[in-house]
Amino acid sequence: MGLALAFLLACPGSRAPAQGPQGAELAGRLGCLACHAWQGQGGQLATALDGIGARLTPRELGIAIAYPRQRHPLAKMPSYAYLPPMEQAALVNFLESLK
Ligand code: HEC
Repeated sequence: MGLALAFLLACPGSRAPAQGPQGAELAGRLGCLACHAWQGQGGQLATALDGIGARLTPRELGIAIAYPRQRHPLAKMPSYAYLPPMEQAALVNFLESLK
């Protein structure tokens, strides 16, 4: 799966690192947009992700993904701590780029 994914992800124009899964694709695959809106699309259950990179530090973004209840004790957001560290990092990179 990892290898196939790497091929799928050769997306030109992306700011994410060339190797490994890319955050925007992961965000789509993991269903983040079921709850969060981004660029006018997606769910309304949580705050929009637009501009999140300007509001949160990379460290805070990492915590929000792996341990959502540390930031918002009552949040219905699932924990993504099960993701390989590389994928968590790709998500943080992606969110960080949303300024
Ligand atoms: C089931 C709904 C749901 C899903 C799926 C979900 N989230 Fe969330 N998320 C929330 C809720 C609710 C919060 C709490 C605060 C809010 O409304 O932003 C939150 C908070 C966050 C925060 C912190 C926002 C802040 O200002 O503190 C980030 C970053 C975030 N989510 C990113 C993601 C990413 C990336 C994914 C996919 C990997 C994802 N979320 C998937 C519901 C969800």
